[in-house]
Amino acid sequence: MGVILRFEIKATGRAVPQRRVSNEELAQRMDTSGEWIWSHTGIRARRIASVDTASSDLGFEAAWNALRMAVEQGVCVERTPEELASTLDMIIVATTTPDFYGCPSTACLIQNRLRAKNAGAMDISAACSGFIYGLETAAGILSVGKERKRCLVIGCEILSRFVDWNDRSTCVLFGDGAGAVLLEKTDTKDTEVRGLLRTILRADGAGSENLVIKKGGSRNAYHAGDIFEFAPFIEMNGHAVYNFAVSAVTEIIRDLLQVERLSVDDLRWIVPHQANARIVHAAAKRLGFPPEKFFLNIDEYANTSAASIPIALDELNRERRLKKGDLILCVGFGAGLTYGGNLIVW
Ligand code: UT7
Repeated sequence: MGVILRFEIKATGRAVPQRRVSNEELAQRMDTSGEWIWSHTGIRARRIASVDTASSDLGFEAAWNALRMAVEQGVCVERTPEELASTLDMIIVATTTPDFYGCPSTACLIQNRLRAKNAGAMDISAACSGFIYGLETAAGILSVGKERKRCLVIGCEILSRFVDWNDRSTCVLFGDGAGAVLLEKTDTKDTEVRGLLRTILRADGAGSENLVIKKGGSRNAYHAGDIFEFAPFIEMNGHAVYNFAVSAVTEIIRDLLQVERLSVDDLRWIVPHQANARIVHAAAKRLGFPPEKFFLNIDEYANTSAASIPIALDELNRERRLKKGDLILCVGFGAGLTYGGNLIVW
């Protein structure tokens, strides 16, 4: 019997800013209402980072919490998070809102703070699907390097700094936060299926204009002497993205289940990217699945892009709503346009 490689999530962590901004607080500042936001999105509040906090700060904290969990729960032989950090082979950060444009990567900043001296580090740019892409990338990197064993996959975002606070149709949707998982490769002769089972990654670049930060890149660079009124911000064709999202979620769930010959009853949870509860309910209806299968925490955190799925995983994990052997399906979609899903045996 050959050796089987498994890629298991050994621990999770999250970090969200303390400052909670309710819909009602936003309604005092702009022409909106708590009722509109809640009924159109399922959002009641979002967390907003202080001005001196960047994505790597939240990402570092989430990563540290994941390492601490691994140590406290005894899933590794290392006895401190510091010691565990030094065994990491790779750090992958999914973010749409890096500390710096282009370079250095946010992953390198986190690598430095973790003192993960043996780890490579890089960012993934796949917007809200970044964590889904990141998990598969991590598994790929671990699988081709015989000596590699452990990888941190982090989603971290400060979206509040990239929204136009004068555009009520986008600014109310987003929040700040970070989530992280520790992925470990094990080679075993035991045939029990566990860990990352299958991933689908897809993209439709034809829809790239529907969700875009136009200013600041090589297409629309800033030039010396430019006077600009606004910081770069997210522009979104809400209707187009909504329609894409419902189709993407439906397609990924259907395809992942079909290719593994599974049914909805085999799943403990579907963990969708938290962009709009209505997207999730519409996909559930199309699939004929009970809405309770889908884990939602958008009411408290709003859309935290690449961080939303790892935050959700950490919440489920810490609340002990995941048991060893549970089958979960994570599904993401976002700018690019990108979409995809991971089937994971917990
Ligand atoms: O993670 C990235 C992926 N992003 C997404 O998945 C977002 C996808 N899109 C959506 O979730 C929805 O399209 C939105 C939540 C963005 C918008 O919901 P909608 O039901 O499609 O609303 P709408 O754009 O059709 O707007 C309806 C009305 C408009 O007024 P009129 O023109 O009918 O008079 C808007 O001006 O609601 C108005 N409106 C608001 N009213 C109060 C838009 N934003 C607000 C607001 N407060 N914040």
